[in-house]
Amino acid sequence: MFQIAIDGPSGAGKSSVAKLIAARLGIVYVDTGALYRTIGYFVRGKGIARTDVAGIVSCLPHIHIEVRFENGTQRVYLNGEDLGDRIREPEISMYASAVSAVPEVRAFLLDTQRDIAKKNSVIMDGRDIGTVILPHADVKVFLFASNEARALRRTKELEAKGMPARYEDVLREMIERDDNDRNRAVAPAVAAPDATLLDNSNMTIEESAEAIIALLRKKQEEND
Ligand code: DC
Repeated sequence: MFQIAIDGPSGAGKSSVAKLIAARLGIVYVDTGALYRTIGYFVRGKGIARTDVAGIVSCLPHIHIEVRFENGTQRVYLNGEDLGDRIREPEISMYASAVSAVPEVRAFLLDTQRDIAKKNSVIMDGRDIGTVILPHADVKVFLFASNEARALRRTKELEAKGMPARYEDVLREMIERDDNDRNRAVAPAVAAPDATLLDNSNMTIEESAEAIIALLRKKQEEND
C-alpha cells in the first residue's frame, strides 16, 4: 500500500489531477475538502454565523459523517443523506473554510481521514495532508498556480456544475479563503518541508498527473 498527499490552495487543480492519478493507478481518491464542506453545510443550515465558533462546535455532536466509495467515487453522507453538489456552492466554500479553522472540527475529522488511508492505497487531497493527516506519505506534492489561473478554472468548474458565478467574485472569495486557510493557527495550508512544489499554471491536468506519477515511480525505485 502507498499514499500520495496533495495539498495546495483552492483551484490549483488538486481534485482533477488526483482523480486522474487514482484512475491510472487503480487507487482510491479521497477529497478531504468535502468533509469540511459537509460540516459547513450543516452549520449554515442551522442558521449559525461563520464567525460563531461556539455555535460551530455545538453542532458537532449532531453530525454523523460517513464516507463511502461507490464505483470508485467518494460519497459523503451527512446523517445518512448524500448532499451531492450542494456542498460545492460558493457560500458553502466560505463556510467550509471558516469551520476548518476550528480545532475541534479538525479533531472531529482526523480519524475518518486516517482510517481510509489505513485500508487502501490512496491519493488524498486537502490542505494538511502532508503535514498532519499523512505525515509519512510516500509522495507529497504542494500544487499551486497563479491566482488568475485558479480563479478562471474555478469559474469554469462552477459553470459546468450549473452554478454560474462571476470571475471577479470567484477571484475575491478565493483570495479571502486562501488567506483564512493559510493563516489559521491549526494545520495551516502550507507545504510540508519534504513536499515537492509544483506550479501548474501552465500545465495541463495530464501533465501534472504525469509529473506526480513520476515522483511515485522514483520513490518506489528508491525503496526497491
Ligand atoms: O478543497 P476544498 O476547496 O473543497 O476545501 C474547502 C475548505 O476546507 C478549504 O477552504 C479549507 C478546508 N480544508 C482544510 O482545512 N483541510 C483540508 N484537508 C481540506 C479542506
